[in-house]
Formats: sequence, structure tokens, C-alpha cells
Amino acid sequence: MMEQTVRLRVNGHDHEFAVPCDETLLETLRERLGLASVRETCGIGICGACTVLANGRPLSSCLLLSVLAEGLEVTTLEGLSGSDGALHPVQQAFLDQQAFHCSYCTPGMILSVVALLAENLAPTPEDVARYLAGNLCRCGSYLRILAAVQDAAARLQAAHADRSDVGIARSMPTPGR
Ligand code: FES
Ligand code: FES
Repeated sequence: MMEQTVRLRVNGHDHEFAVPCDETLLETLRERLGLASVRETCGIGICGACTVLANGRPLSSCLLLSVLAEGLEVTTLEGLSGSDGALHPVQQAFLDQQAFHCSYCTPGMILSVVALLAENLAPTPEDVARYLAGNLCRCGSYLRILAAVQDAAARLQAAHADRSDVGIARSMPTPGR
């Protein structure tokens, strides 16, 4: 099988691989980088278990050949937490709301929710259902997942409000000057 060189930035690190032309991004991430959160179920773009963020947008990694992923910036669940190991607010909300059962769908679900909240910090239940339509949960944890999305949205809104307050305080003239 012919091989081609591909460069990817994954979870903040640059990589270069020589990959066969039929290797999927899912295989590259799991087998070459050991990123076990990227899961395969259907292999045909239906279930969302293999979801990663590609340049910030959810992508079914089973559907993309790695040779076509040249230059992509990829984030997997392993890359979500902060450098101090703190969980991302969406991860924390999933934990606190117990928004999983077997957890097989959870990494892909969390990444899709991260992308959703980056676009819309106050999604309605209908917005959530529409955005997550490509992420299936065979355990039927949907109500808890919705609760986790609302919880995460509230955390992120509060964090934004805090940052705005600090920004306003900084831009206020100091009395007496
Ligand atoms: S394994 Fe990729 S969408 Fe199901
Ligand atoms: S928690 Fe089992 S598939 Fe979603």
C-alpha cells in the first residue's frame, strides 16, 4: 500500500506520520498515538463514538482518511483538561450530573458539547437535541446528558461574567486620578 506523509497537530503537539492511503484518522489517533478515548463502533459515520474536534468543529474521525487531514488541528478528550490536570467544565458537568452509564459514547458526546457551547452558550433543549443528533447513546442517558449541557452552560456563563466584571473593573478610571 502506498504511503504518504501527513502532519497533524494533536492536543497541542505536532506530529508527522507516513500513513497508508486507506488509514483513517480514527486509526491514526488510536493506533499511532494511543488515544483510546477515540472509539469505533459503526465505522460509517452514524454513531459519533469516534468524534474529535478538527479545527474546533466536531468530526467523525472514522470518515476521514488521514492523508486528507494534512494540517488539521485535532483535539481529543485527552487534550481537554488544563495543564494542571483540571477537568474542562463540560467534563466536570458530565461527572457531576452522572451523564453516562457505560460511558462508551461519552468522549465524543463531551467534545460535541464543547463545540456546541463554543457556538451557543445558552442552547435550548431543542438546540441541544439538534446539535447532538450525530452522537448516539445506546444506554439512553439523554436526559442526564441534557442536564450536563445545561450545567456546563451555566458554569461557562458564570466564568464569562466573571471575566467581563474584571475587564470592566480594569477599564474604570481610578478615583482621585
Ligand atoms: S465510529 Fe465513527 S461515527 Fe460511528
Ligand atoms: S452511556 Fe453507554 S452509550 Fe452512552
